[in-house]
Amino acid sequence: MANPSTHLSRSVSRVVAGKAASDGAGVKLNRIIGQRDFDMLDPFLLLDEFRSDQAGDYLAGFPDHPHRGFETVTYMLAGRMRHADNQGNSGLLTPGSVQWMTAGRGIVHSEMPEQEDGLMWGFQLWVNLPASDKMTAPRYQDIAAQSIPSIEPAAGVSPRVIAGRFGDAVSPVHGIATEPVYLDLSLDAGTSIDLPLAQGHNAFAYIYDGSATIGPLAQSRTIARGELAVLAAGDHVHVGAVAESARLILVAGRPLGEPVARHGPFVMNTPEQIVETIRDYQTGRF
Ligand code: FE2
Repeated sequence: MANPSTHLSRSVSRVVAGKAASDGAGVKLNRIIGQRDFDMLDPFLLLDEFRSDQAGDYLAGFPDHPHRGFETVTYMLAGRMRHADNQGNSGLLTPGSVQWMTAGRGIVHSEMPEQEDGLMWGFQLWVNLPASDKMTAPRYQDIAAQSIPSIEPAAGVSPRVIAGRFGDAVSPVHGIATEPVYLDLSLDAGTSIDLPLAQGHNAFAYIYDGSATIGPLAQSRTIARGELAVLAAGDHVHVGAVAESARLILVAGRPLGEPVARHGPFVMNTPEQIVETIRDYQTGRF
């Protein structure tokens, strides 16, 4: 008998709409993962989309703040953001670039817009670290736009491979514990594609422009801009653009299945570790 779990197309198990939120020193954003109705999708702890051409929505930025126990992934679509930390690292995020920061045992950093007007648009994703890596040394992977592989597996379909691989295109981001795939996918109207996704990995698609049809033909659902589709089990997903073009991020990763103790920018496994983390931060040990 054939194994029913092979060649299973992932359907949409849930659709989540983002909630307007404010973070940092007053940056307006859309919080999709990490809100009351959808607190996480193991190993993903948070997904924010920031998109505004009103300087007052983003100028205040994210002044000095700490992180411990997970990774922050910033992917820019438009605008420029400067990051700097307490260990002397700094860099400029420009359109199409990604910063994969493994906070590990702790950093204090700022993320500030380097523009006074114009569109600022991008995402920040938080990816959990396994218990064994939470106190690892901090590490940055700053990937310039031109170093992110972009391919055209079918006419009108162009994924950028921000993490993981798609066919022969492999992202330069490496050594991530949860083996993530992160694609920025652009589909012209009337096109579709099947994307492989590891069995057992949790996955979601977030539509940031247009609308997309997701899932096997008989059960496909149309997902609109600003909505996130959680994908059910399977080894691939069918994504299409029907009446209009679609732009989306498709993200998958290995769930950790470990306890999560969370307090603002600290994500550990137990409440005791959170108490210790706050003490370490307050006594300048980051
Ligand atoms: Fe941060």
